[in-house]
Amino acid sequence: MKYLDYLQLNLDLTTVQNNGYSVIDLFAGCGGLALGFEASGFETIGYEMLKDACQSYSKNLNGKCHCTTLQIGLDLADNADVIIGGPPCQPFSVIGDQRGPDDPRDGFPIFLDAVKRYQPKVALFENVRGLLYRNRFYFEDIISKLANLKYNVEWKILNAVQYGVPQKRERLFVVAHRGEWSFPRPVNEKKSITAGEALGELAYAITPDSKFLTPSMDRYIAAYEKKSCCIRPRDLHLNAPSRTVTCRNLNGATSDMLRIRLPDGRRRRLTVREAARLQSFPDWFVFCGNEGSQFNQIGNAVPPLLSKALADSVLKCLESSEKENNEGKKQKFSRQERLNV
Ligand SMILES: C[S@@+](CC[C@H](N)C(=O)[O-])C[C@H]1O[C@@H](n2cnc3c(N)ncnc32)[C@H](O)[C@@H]1O
Repeated sequence: MKYLDYLQLNLDLTTVQNNGYSVIDLFAGCGGLALGFEASGFETIGYEMLKDACQSYSKNLNGKCHCTTLQIGLDLADNADVIIGGPPCQPFSVIGDQRGPDDPRDGFPIFLDAVKRYQPKVALFENVRGLLYRNRFYFEDIISKLANLKYNVEWKILNAVQYGVPQKRERLFVVAHRGEWSFPRPVNEKKSITAGEALGELAYAITPDSKFLTPSMDRYIAAYEKKSCCIRPRDLHLNAPSRTVTCRNLNGATSDMLRIRLPDGRRRRLTVREAARLQSFPDWFVFCGNEGSQFNQIGNAVPPLLSKALADSVLKCLESSEKENNEGKKQKFSRQERLNV
């Protein structure tokens, strides 16, 4: 099946059946994580501080995003079955100085406070694997705080490329639950989707707004590759999955920038739509704001295809807990019945 057809089949919100469960999405961004949950039948409500990202969420998803700066104690929607979220990764990213809980952008106290006050059946968060390095002590503290709230906590590094996303992207996922949990099984362990399959006709297209690298940028890249003994140039290779799509390599930083080398030798920067495809956003998903803002929303997102796989696992977990509870109730009822006899 062609990549775009596969996205449409898995992430179509027009025909999906509501599964009866609701989700609060904290630090929602444009809704990459939420899109997967909606495609699995969940209702979502987002909370995000950036106006453009909120608008993208509300424009594309069935749920609405509240444009607000989250804080400890802030009132959220009542009775959500699930809380999901992507607390900012800058405090833990190896590209930054990894100040962890000392970084004012750390969103984990807000996430944990929401879980403590609203007691969802399942809580799930995503972050960079850097959370396991210098700030490992903090990661362990987060896990034990969730365990103290009587959740079973499981975590795993998942690579989006194994879930149909044309991109190598490893991220940490943590799930707190009270039932049975399995991380989603990879869908394509052997054959990955390539960047060329995802970009299709766009890859070699040249439009009036195409942005080419300047000769001085090309020289900079050549010098960088020589200095760093780079064997494989960092251009986007269409016969393989993309390297990780980030805000940084979409927006600038010449040496790292994601770019396509055209048959005539020129290099072209990726467009918003190309970046979105590499993150597995369907073409109907439109991003609000200027180009830089759109690139940030895309680079920050959980790839919706991976999110859909996780959402399906959350649904199974909720259904198995419900089944267990119902069986428990039935057993109690029959004992009662026996007493009545
Ligand atoms: C990693 S991104 C989340 C991406 C999102 N999960 C997705 O899949 O599209 C983190 C988001 O948190 C937002 N954010 C950071 N601090 C916030 C706060 N205190 N309140 C609300 N949003 C916040 C940022 O603007 C950013 O969009």
